[in-house]
Amino acid sequence: MAVFTDTVSARVLAILLPYFSAYKLPTFTISGPRIGAFQLPNALFVAPMAGVTDRPFRSLCKRLGAGYAVSEMVTSRPDLRDSLKTSRRLDHTGEVSPIAVQIAGTEPGMMAEAAAYNIERGAQIIDINMGCPAKKVCNAWAGSALMQDEDLAQRIVAAVVEASSPHGVPVTLKMRTGWCQAERNAVRIARSAEAAGVAMVTVHGRTREQGYAGQAEYDTIAAVKAALRIPVCANGDIDSADKVRQVLAATGADAIMIGRAAQGRPWIFSEIAHELATGEIAPSPATLQVRNWLVDHLHEHHDLYGERAGVRSARKHIGWYVHGLPGADAFRARMNRIDAGADQLGAVSGYFDLLAQTHERLPARLTREAREAAAAL
Ligand SMILES: Cc1cc2nc3c(=O)[nH]c(=O)nc-3n(C[C@H](O)[C@H](O)[C@H](O)COP(=O)(O)O)c2cc1C
Repeated sequence: MAVFTDTVSARVLAILLPYFSAYKLPTFTISGPRIGAFQLPNALFVAPMAGVTDRPFRSLCKRLGAGYAVSEMVTSRPDLRDSLKTSRRLDHTGEVSPIAVQIAGTEPGMMAEAAAYNIERGAQIIDINMGCPAKKVCNAWAGSALMQDEDLAQRIVAAVVEASSPHGVPVTLKMRTGWCQAERNAVRIARSAEAAGVAMVTVHGRTREQGYAGQAEYDTIAAVKAALRIPVCANGDIDSADKVRQVLAATGADAIMIGRAAQGRPWIFSEIAHELATGEIAPSPATLQVRNWLVDHLHEHHDLYGERAGVRSARKHIGWYVHGLPGADAFRARMNRIDAGADQLGAVSGYFDLLAQTHERLPARLTREAREAAAAL
């Protein structure tokens, strides 16, 4: 493996350190909101991400400071319940309470039935997906497509609440700001969801039309918060304590949800909590600690998916953990050719053990350009 060089990160640190030590950030704490009977331990949530926030990853995020996690969406279609993908998503064995399951669908009766089905299998909170932009989901008029039809959206919310409340299970709603720029109807949909008995609304500050492009906007989330009495969670492009401060100040939201910035960095929740509580930037985690978290993650991942499929689907997680770290490109290329679970675990341990020899703490992640510039010096 290549010798680690980090001249550029050392230079960047040298420039930034005096700035950080001279400037103590203001402290800021927000307690977790209540969803039905569940008082959440804090207000930093991990966002549901299909193919990412499976049970192993959600559990690790919770262990490392996330106050709440929602499952990847599960379809409301009964004919798909026995598919391997859906049945894995329905397995909540050992997950820390509250177990929140997100359902996606387009037909009120089927969504009500899906809520009841998931409650029977351990769901303690049901979340309705009105935010997913994926074509596969939107073409079936589910996910964010529902925002185009407020009447249908309202009937789905009412049916799911009606199916869940006899079990004492609260219902939450996750949506976008609207279907398109000209039709940002999040406030109307949120108001009618609250009237139907929804316990919390999460808003991703983009329209369906935007996909993940451009920047999230927080004015619509602020308008939703101002219009509701139930807790509102803000989501979109949050990746640091600074961003949390900005978003909370801009929206008055009760909680924030982090998606992509948690990929390969499940400790982001405790890092942000530390910075908000103390005003000081958290030291980066010990390199060997990160190795141990990733090894735990991989063990659970292989257990859930089985060795053959698990080794393959774990590669993207490993790629995110090492992204921007010294020697990561070469390591990833080598790791992608490994097919056995024990070999994958060994390679990951070996990478972080070697990194720990030169970096007791995880070094700053560098962009590709910065890595290439460092290598050329
Ligand atoms: C790979 C991926 C899968 C996602 N899957 C879901 C999903 O199943 N349900 C959902 O409500 N949102 C889903 N989302 C949207 C995220 O929950 C979140 O709203 C979005 O990523 C914006 O937050 P971020 O900027 O912190 O990533 C997904 C996002 C990504 C990147």
